Amino acid sequence: MTAPATDRAMALQSLQAAAVGGLVTGLCIRLGGRLGLYEAMAQRGPMTAADVAAAAGLSERFVLEWLRQQASAGVLVYSEDGRFELDEPARGMYADTNSPSFVAGFWDNPQRFVDMFESAEGAFRTGIGRPFGEINPTPVREVAMRIPLQVWARNALVPQALPQLPGVIEKLRDGGAACDIGCGAGAAPLAIAAAFPRSRVAGYDTWSAVLELAEEFRNEAGLTNVAFYNPERTPLPETPEFDLVITSDMLHDLPRPDLMAASVRKLIRPGGSWFIIDPDPRPTFDEDRLQPQAANQYGFSLAICLQSGTATPDGWGLGLRGLPEPALRELVMNAGFSEFERVQGISHPFNAYYVARP
Ligand SMILES: C[S@@+](CC[C@H](N)C(=O)[O-])C[C@H]1O[C@@H](n2cnc3c(N)ncnc32)[C@H](O)[C@@H]1O
Repeated sequence: MTAPATDRAMALQSLQAAAVGGLVTGLCIRLGGRLGLYEAMAQRGPMTAADVAAAAGLSERFVLEWLRQQASAGVLVYSEDGRFELDEPARGMYADTNSPSFVAGFWDNPQRFVDMFESAEGAFRTGIGRPFGEINPTPVREVAMRIPLQVWARNALVPQALPQLPGVIEKLRDGGAACDIGCGAGAAPLAIAAAFPRSRVAGYDTWSAVLELAEEFRNEAGLTNVAFYNPERTPLPETPEFDLVITSDMLHDLPRPDLMAASVRKLIRPGGSWFIIDPDPRPTFDEDRLQPQAANQYGFSLAICLQSGTATPDGWGLGLRGLPEPALRELVMNAGFSEFERVQGISHPFNAYYVARP
């Protein structure tokens, strides 16, 4: 006889179904991108499976199954007459790589997530993690610029975010200087350099392989007012040289974010702005566990951020959700900044935007 299902057992079954469903939907998003299905549906309104199959040059029966999966998951809108639509918000997220909300690139290389999570096993045993560049497999050129924050930097940083930082646009237009520390594949420095030809822009990252990609993208764009450096070889300047300093999704990754805050304080000019993008956790776990991104981000923390933050024996090991606003404020003010506030007018489902001034 089967034991009666308890509420708890039912909840765990639902959780398992949701976890599997998330993975499967992600893999189907990947298929849709690779097969050109989103492209085939973009700006065409509601379509039948036959329409989509014809537009993409694919088997109608397989396309129908994919459409049903995507509509059941909520990616596509189903109109109850056998037609499926990639509506405008979904187009931005899945079809349009020039949209700041494009997220489909997350699924380009799922194997890298398996590798990253497995790479945490050693750190569980020793408590010592590894620097960013050692955790991640070699960055893939096609993937590097399709990662959501790099997409956001390429498409939204200049038109949407910088205008919210008083005085920054004017300084860059008049030949000011900006740097992005932990720039990854260089989307932010490249976007700033392209938008402000008289500015001087620097991108710093300790992960050599990703810096090489940034340099390739710089060459392709033909930009001469931006340069990329590895601070382990070319240390950050210790004199005030930059009007704008960006750290995006990296402070919490550092073993010693206090040392980085002190470095930024030295290299920022009087009147300059330090633009900080970091996750937006709640200050206590009692509250934080209820946030929609908590489970996902505590997981990614194991795969990447906590490992990076414990890469040296003196590492604080903050983890991905280790810098809630009060802790970040304290860190910034202790480094000698006199102002710290949330930037108004920019929002994101799970990142917070702050500006600090000397
Ligand atoms: C999560 S990634 C964020 C990349 C990029 N800022 C973005 O928003 O897409 C963090 C980056 O910080 C870099 N990083 C880690 N420690 C660093 C350090 N001490 N100095 C400069 N970059 C560092 C890593 O190599 C990695 O590229």
